[in-house]
Amino acid sequence: MLSLEILDNTPKKLLTDQRVAASCREAAPVLDAVKAGTGLDIDSMGWMEVTKWAGEQTLSRLEEIAAQVAADSDAFVVIGVGGSNNAARSVVKAFRSESGVEIIWAGNTLSPAAMNRMLSMLDGKRFTIDCIAKNFETLEPGASFRVLRQLLVSRFGKEEAARRTIATGTPGSRLEEICREEGYTFLAFPTDIGGRYTAMSNVGLLPMAVAGLDIRALVSGAMEMQRQLYALPAEENPALRYAVIRNMLYNDGYKLEMLSSFEPQLKWFYKWWIQLFAESEGKCGKGLFPVASEYSEELHSVGQFVQDGSPILFETFLDIKEQQSSLICHPDEVDDRFGYLDGKDFWEINKASFTATRTAHAQKLPCLTLTIDRLDMETFGELFYFYQFTCVLSSLLLGVNPFDQPGVEAYKGWMFKALGKPGA
Ligand code: PA5
Repeated sequence: MLSLEILDNTPKKLLTDQRVAASCREAAPVLDAVKAGTGLDIDSMGWMEVTKWAGEQTLSRLEEIAAQVAADSDAFVVIGVGGSNNAARSVVKAFRSESGVEIIWAGNTLSPAAMNRMLSMLDGKRFTIDCIAKNFETLEPGASFRVLRQLLVSRFGKEEAARRTIATGTPGSRLEEICREEGYTFLAFPTDIGGRYTAMSNVGLLPMAVAGLDIRALVSGAMEMQRQLYALPAEENPALRYAVIRNMLYNDGYKLEMLSSFEPQLKWFYKWWIQLFAESEGKCGKGLFPVASEYSEELHSVGQFVQDGSPILFETFLDIKEQQSSLICHPDEVDDRFGYLDGKDFWEINKASFTATRTAHAQKLPCLTLTIDRLDMETFGELFYFYQFTCVLSSLLLGVNPFDQPGVEAYKGWMFKALGKPGA
């Protein structure tokens, strides 16, 4: 069970238990409204019932496709950007072993150097592609899909290329028409879920399944988190507490939340988390700016600012309870003055670094710790659901719509004009 702990030893002591409890009681109607789905855009809530887009039929179909891909491909190219690739990438990068189908990420850049590097990773390999795009107007995936389709045809011929092409798109979209016309496999992008909430659907799950990961465990973790968040009352509900604290601190003048962890496996999860909160909350001139820090490495860079710089941020540590791995630091015949580490496990050393960092930071800024039991597919599923649910609560408390992204359109208009897109 995931838990949320507060450590605030700052002179102001903003996060007292009484203040948090009172704010949770006040915010209880928001929790009730989210659970009931009232006042929310029903066309964006499809992820709240996990099995709606990740039920038995979907999982079996995705496992079937994944087995087929594994049988005839060395690599699987995921073409997508933002919500269309962040969830899958965070899981695949955390857990994929070196054996099995290699997952290659495309459709998230316009840099020819990066695209050429990606294409060269496919040299001599048998590969399958999956173009994931909700509206199929986004430039990066659209342009990369074209380049990769052409590569497939030149390498395998038209018929075999079609067999190696999957698209995950909106039913009724041009992408679906193309699939019909060209004989590609088409999977539905959920109509009632926006990109950044699609981890538990064809969008997030297929690349994970192709990577050989247990998507059923991920989904079962999300289902368990759904059950808990619907059952727990306001004051004990970790999602509501977290959302309430974020908003309290925002109103107290903090402008950034930093997510930190001492586990580098979470590196790509940060990207998913940053997108979720930045795109959901950063609007109408409001919102906490989400940043992330990969410790212990960044204690030697941003650590200075966190401890001693402008007091604009609070920190949320993501901690893992159970020991994941072990490496003993054995005594050495060279007197390197690290003798105090003799016989210690790096698990213990890393934990000591975490608790020391938190103690030090909590003197200067409010610190939260979100603890998960283990780091595996199941707890990743819990995290996805927990953060999505928290993000909706937090956005509503802030007074913004968690499901749109009007600000993203501004640059697009200028870019499409610059590229001569018809109608721009
Ligand atoms: O969360 C979102 O809605 C966005 O980040 C989209 O996922 C992103 O812009 C990609 O959109 P599309 O899948 O339509 O290409």
